[in-house]
Amino acid sequence: MRNLMDILDLSVEEIGELIDTAEDIIADGKKYSEVCRGKKLATLFFEPSTRTRLSFEAAMYELGGHVLGFSSADSSSTTKGESLADTVRAVGCYADIIAMRHPKEGAPVVAARTAGVPVINAGDGGHCHPTQTLADLLTIHREKGSFENLTIGLCGDLMFGRTVHSLIHAMSRYQGVKFVLISPEELRVPDYILTDVLEPLGIPYRETRSLEESIPELDILYMTRVQKERFFNEEDYVRLKDTYILAPEKLRSAKKDLCIMHPLPRVNEISTAVDDDPRACYFKQVLNGKYMRMALIMKLLEVKV
Ligand code: CP
Repeated sequence: MRNLMDILDLSVEEIGELIDTAEDIIADGKKYSEVCRGKKLATLFFEPSTRTRLSFEAAMYELGGHVLGFSSADSSSTTKGESLADTVRAVGCYADIIAMRHPKEGAPVVAARTAGVPVINAGDGGHCHPTQTLADLLTIHREKGSFENLTIGLCGDLMFGRTVHSLIHAMSRYQGVKFVLISPEELRVPDYILTDVLEPLGIPYRETRSLEESIPELDILYMTRVQKERFFNEEDYVRLKDTYILAPEKLRSAKKDLCIMHPLPRVNEISTAVDDDPRACYFKQVLNGKYMRMALIMKLLEVKV
């Protein structure tokens, strides 16, 4: 039985297979409409979500399966003091697969020990968000045709932005990738990403505060929200939240084929005036997330078309 805790749980070959499946679903979704008939997905969301939870649910419906679950910890028996291990063990009696979001880093690993069915990490605290990375990878592959020789700018809250951590892990496995890490000093990428991932692999990276100076060299610009919910005090959040706002004038020096990404939700990081720019890919990411989650559910349930 396979779980998905971290994007590195999937090999490069497996990511290629998931992309092939997602592309086939995009080409002929009807072919997949009954493959999960009789199967149930439980979505256990202990933290708010729009895209991840609803795209998992849409994915399972489009595969012909069923969905159960909760969208807030308040409506589960954890409010009565039940442990996560017991909650998940109970849900494993009803569902064939579980997608879980939790504010505590590592919580999905604890869940996977007792669930008895595959568990998917749908975001754990500031740690990682592997299924967002699957959405990001399909988007990059569709826009750029490959993962190689790309200069990727990651901008905003690189400290708490779990999508950033997962994307760096994933893209570090491809040839010729370079990173430009754009953040205020207080929200720099955690040291372990530099010392345990980028430096041992010899991947070129540069840390900077300046979005304007970095834009011309980028193939991908991945904007992120400052993660209000991970801050210890409101004052720091208010001071940092609008450090970067991508507006049309800042894109004048950008490449014509720049791919502008954001995992969403956005607050102010990208002006809505950018939405009509053909380089804006963030709503494509939303849709691509559903296709990749369909492919992932099929893989973990070992169902074939
Ligand atoms: N990208 C993402 O995880 O969005 P939600 O928080 O809405 O699920």
